Amino acid sequence: MFKIVHAQFLAPGIKRFVIEAPRIARKQKPGQFVILRIYEQGERIPVTIENSDPDRGTINIVVQAAGKTTNLLNTLETGDSILDVVGPLGKPSEIANYGTVVVVGGGVGTAMAYPTAAALKRAGNRVLSIVGARNKELVILEREMREVSDALMITTDDGSYADKGFVTDKLKQLIQNGTRIDLVVAVGPIVMMKAITELTRKEYIRTVVSLNPIMIDGTGMCGGCRVLIDGKSEFACVDGPEFDGHKVNFEVLVQRNAMYRNAEQKSMEEFKRSREALAVEPEPACVVAQTAQGVER
Ligand code: NAD
Ligand code: FES
Repeated sequence: MFKIVHAQFLAPGIKRFVIEAPRIARKQKPGQFVILRIYEQGERIPVTIENSDPDRGTINIVVQAAGKTTNLLNTLETGDSILDVVGPLGKPSEIANYGTVVVVGGGVGTAMAYPTAAALKRAGNRVLSIVGARNKELVILEREMREVSDALMITTDDGSYADKGFVTDKLKQLIQNGTRIDLVVAVGPIVMMKAITELTRKEYIRTVVSLNPIMIDGTGMCGGCRVLIDGKSEFACVDGPEFDGHKVNFEVLVQRNAMYRNAEQKSMEEFKRSREALAVEPEPACVVAQTAQGVER
């Protein structure tokens, strides 16, 4: 069991957990993730590592409530425990002194972009960060991103905070202003990463994206996270999650992620019904586990 030593909402539906996981905290590098399972029959879900503290033996993960398991996870509080946390998984981000790097965090993807931005800054790069969210409430890690960036640009889709627009509008402005950009790192929704690669391809700017396909075992065995890179099948869990964005087949990624949508919706509806029927306050994971059986991936 992995104890939650602190749990706090960063934004509506987005929660940060500080978890006791000394071995992972010692080994974790930017760009890596964990796969966790809340209870014995529960599905395994990949979750971003936002930070780690090897001295305290803790890792920070950031979870956006999207389906049944992430909603369940976000009911957990300080003092609760998570059954399994496996990691760190995936290849770390390639950190070097590239020159000027633009780091783009879209929504909750900012949690994955943050440790990479920090490492790129430590490596001597000029880091220009762009963080985008649908609205003011959903902007996360602003202070943290500002601390590791030479400049931070924020956009909101509805204009409720900072500049109205998408992250791509800011990137377009930087390119049009003639800013020298040696590398772009983008983490966020697939449509965003695709739009960014379309912009940078024309400018011949190297672009790294972090992919988030369905994952099950996280060890390259199940094939669940297969992605098409430069016409070849690769596994995001062991060959990624970061890839050259100009080589990613985003259409296949969208199709594969959509394969499980009906099952996920059904599972979510069953979860909501079970909680309505109970009409109780959220319970610790061990109790929730007995009441939330549903379709698993
Ligand atoms: P969101 O839908 O709120 O979008 C965030 C921002 O992305 C928007 O504010 C906008 O600036 C930009 N964006 C969205 N659509 C765009 C488009 N068509 N063109 C250009 N820019 C666009 O994001 P969310 O709901 O927070 O979801 C974040 C996504 O990031 C999730 O899909 C999650 O799975 C993914 N994610 C990925 C990783 C990873 O490792 N790859 C890690 C964490 C999260
Ligand atoms: Fe199973 Fe990657 S999650 S192969």
